[in-house]
Amino acid sequence: MARDVLENKEKHPMEHPQVVVIGGSSGIGLGIAGRLLADGANVTIAARSADRLAAAERELGAGERLRTIVTDVSQEGQVERLFASTGPVDHIVCTAVDAVGAYQPIRRLDLTSIQKLVNAKLYGALLIAKHGTARGSITYTSGIAAYRPAAGGSVVAAVNGALGSLAAALAIELAPVRVNAISPGWVDTPVWDAIAGDAKAERLAAMAARLPAGRIGSPADIAEAVLALVHNGFITGTVLHVDGGHRLV
Ligand SMILES: NC(=O)c1ccc[n+]([C@@H]2O[C@H](COP(=O)([O-])OP(=O)(O)OC[C@H]3O[C@@H](n4cnc5c(N)ncnc54)[C@H](OP(=O)(O)O)[C@@H]3O)[C@@H](O)[C@H]2O)c1
Repeated sequence: MARDVLENKEKHPMEHPQVVVIGGSSGIGLGIAGRLLADGANVTIAARSADRLAAAERELGAGERLRTIVTDVSQEGQVERLFASTGPVDHIVCTAVDAVGAYQPIRRLDLTSIQKLVNAKLYGALLIAKHGTARGSITYTSGIAAYRPAAGGSVVAAVNGALGSLAAALAIELAPVRVNAISPGWVDTPVWDAIAGDAKAERLAAMAARLPAGRIGSPADIAEAVLALVHNGFITGTVLHVDGGHRLV
């Protein structure tokens, strides 16, 4: 039994696996970076703002096992430069999102403001697969908006759904590299400041009361599940839902 458990765990070529977390300066990505560091990984976090990366570096306090690289994942040249700098790594995780202006009624769709979301989440995901070399796994971030849609969330639903399909397609094309998507439910992160503004606390509390789990998620909840996707060598082409039962209510 113990042997089965050992064999099912990804065999890392190095003592400290190398992991790139794009979007790792905030929210869920920051939680994932912290959890990976605690697990012994060497972590590179990438995002657009050098200030937020520096703040994350101070918060994580991991010394030489943590690097930061300013990268806009929607810009091909920057993604190419990121992976030229890291070289081949063991795992890539992407949580990048720019959700400002992403939620709009379909009749008032403003293409310019939704392009930031599509560029960061979907084109970014494609560019990561094009330019990044992962020996073990790639994990994208989908989200509950695709599986329990709400009015005004059509663009986010479409992009999140596309990430599940992309993970499945790449799991075939890039095999034996494993490619999955994690799908968080509502998680208390700074993204809610952009989505709900002053109504953030009220909206999160109302959702917590509806969920079977009885609470909103934390970045640590999602990070723990991402760790399973990173380590379990038999999970590929999957969307892992970590949503407190949100799809059921
Ligand atoms: N929080 C939730 O309730 C929830 C629910 C379902 C799904 N999700 C998904 O979970 C993921 C993480 O969300 P979060 O709540 O942790 O968001 P967050 O706190 O706003 O963090 C987003 C991160 O992405 C980075 N980023 C944004 N645009 C980027 C770009 N073009 N290139 C590189 N980095 C970029 C941000 O840094 P810079 O701005 O400095 O670039 C930041 O580090 C997203 O995919 C989101 O859609 C979240």
